[in-house]
Amino acid sequence: MSFRSISCGFVNEDHIDQEIEVAGWIHRRRDHGGVIFFDLRDSSGLLQVVYNPEDNEAFSIAEGCRNEFVIRAKGIVRKRPEGTVNKGLPTGMVELNSSVLEILNPSKPLPFSLDEHTSVGEETRLKYRFLDLRREEMQRNLRLRSKVSQEIRKFLEKNEFLEIETPILTKATPEGARDYIVPSRTYPGSFFALPQSPQLFKQTLMASGFEKYYQFAKCFRDEDLRADRQPEFTQLDLECSFVTSQDIMDLITEMIRKVFKKAIDVDLGDFPVLTYEEAIKKYGSDKPDLRNPLQFVEVKELFTDSDFKVFSDPANSEDSRIAALRVPNGEKLTRKQIDDYTNFVGQFGAKGLAYIRIIDLSSGKEGLQSPILKFIDDQIIEELLTKLECQNGDIIFFGAGKKNVVNESLSSLRDLVASDLDLLNKDWAPCWIVDFPMFEYNKSGELTPLHHPFTSPTSLDDIEKDPTRTLSDAYDVVLNGTELGGGSVRIHESEILYKVLSLLGIEQKEAQEKFGFLLSALEHGCPPHAGLAIGFDRMIMLMTNSDSIRDSIAFPKTQSASCLLTEAPGSASIEQLDELNISIDIDTEEEM
Ligand code: AMO
Ligand code: AMP
Repeated sequence: MSFRSISCGFVNEDHIDQEIEVAGWIHRRRDHGGVIFFDLRDSSGLLQVVYNPEDNEAFSIAEGCRNEFVIRAKGIVRKRPEGTVNKGLPTGMVELNSSVLEILNPSKPLPFSLDEHTSVGEETRLKYRFLDLRREEMQRNLRLRSKVSQEIRKFLEKNEFLEIETPILTKATPEGARDYIVPSRTYPGSFFALPQSPQLFKQTLMASGFEKYYQFAKCFRDEDLRADRQPEFTQLDLECSFVTSQDIMDLITEMIRKVFKKAIDVDLGDFPVLTYEEAIKKYGSDKPDLRNPLQFVEVKELFTDSDFKVFSDPANSEDSRIAALRVPNGEKLTRKQIDDYTNFVGQFGAKGLAYIRIIDLSSGKEGLQSPILKFIDDQIIEELLTKLECQNGDIIFFGAGKKNVVNESLSSLRDLVASDLDLLNKDWAPCWIVDFPMFEYNKSGELTPLHHPFTSPTSLDDIEKDPTRTLSDAYDVVLNGTELGGGSVRIHESEILYKVLSLLGIEQKEAQEKFGFLLSALEHGCPPHAGLAIGFDRMIMLMTNSDSIRDSIAFPKTQSASCLLTEAPGSASIEQLDELNISIDIDTEEEM
């Protein structure tokens, strides 16, 4: 004997006059002049259930029911009376006239109404995640997540990939973030690290002859969190032997296209390929949002001899640029908005935001409006207008200064202006970014890899003379301005890996200690191999058009890396710490 004869969402006109039994949560309870209505919800949908005073016992139980009680109801399906049909609901033609009602479990009054979640803080939603997950939006997101992982599995299995799990308790994997570490009881004073990615294991699997591996892998990174980052997240991770970067890009393009079509009926179209240099030049970012038609134009060379120092200084400096962003119909932007934009770019270190409004090109300089006109020669202005192909109604913004400041500030402004002026000209814009520099200097002046140190350089010429000129055989897939995934051809010869590591200041001994097993695997017949990992949570975030990665994860962590539901992290008992030979030394007063 089962709990119910049918799920709520499946009841329709075919069931009229039949006796059915349903179970679920009271989504909404209404009292209409002596008749009680429940919208009963289960995972399949809603069904209207009606209690009349004539059914004495059931009616009096219904009177005591509140929202979110879990009940079981038995009765006869009826056509809804004229005028009460709800066309917006799949079951809206019918209702259940219930004569038997059983409360399976009552509910305390809710800390927030499931219909009014937008007015409650995210903290409350995360603390009562079991309630938050009952909401339709969250149910939809997690259903989609499941569907997408199924489609990915189908695609990869068809392409002969093997699903192989790799360890969670392991050694540090160098992906650039801080590690989460776990103390070992059996080796006092030693620690496991949770993997930042399965990078080292998947390369080892290639040395083991599996050729095509994939996994939905949990990754752990203790880093500064943002809207699209979590300390614990899921990657669709894969690796193949005997392939080129083009092979991986073709495979992933096909997979992403198929999955978007099957899961949300979206045709993603072409995945244009941009070099890193091109992307930075045109968009100031290696994850450009290509739904946005605005592009930078480099105007450095026009200002080398100018008297306007704000522009001539960067024009004559190797590590600087002057980028112009022409915004068609920018005349709509108010003075107040421009002041706000100036403050906005200031957050990224820009010292100002020069602009020119093009009012009437036929009136020459008189037809322009700008605080910088008085500093610039007429001839330069003329060349500028021609170079930018200006039209009446445009506004041009300028970023001048150190390349990284201009790129960061003006690319963020490019996104903001597009949002304010509603400029996005399509819903979806994927692309590949290739030819990344192999290395960059970090803020402390140390050489660091742009991806990870196992990425193959495209050439070894000059790698020692000027490592920043060396390109890597790496590729990132970007969607709507978010980095969805990234990967590379790997270094499969140990001598080359030693060379790259030594440029990064990691000598043989340290390399042996950190990932001796991988070096050993490379030295025992490891085939050429390449792979990639997609941020699976981010993929779902994009597909569901959410602002936060947390809405695509059942039990996410907060921006400060805690779980409000379980209240993790928590303390360990003295006994546990003793077993681990750990003593805690925190000045609690200072902490508070
Ligand atoms: P990478 O570090 O670029 O590469 O990670 C791959 C993708 O994982 C997602 N991602 C994250 N998602 C949520 N929260 C985070 N904190 C987070 N960090 C990364 C991003 C990113 O594009 N081992 C390599 C892959 C490879 O070379 O095959 C790696 O982990 O979407
Ligand atoms: P200032 O000489 O600092 O008053 O700047 C003159 C104009 O140039 C103002 O409109 C500033 O907003 C603008 N400006 C100043 N510094 C920069 C910069 N680094 N990039 C772009 N515009 C700037």
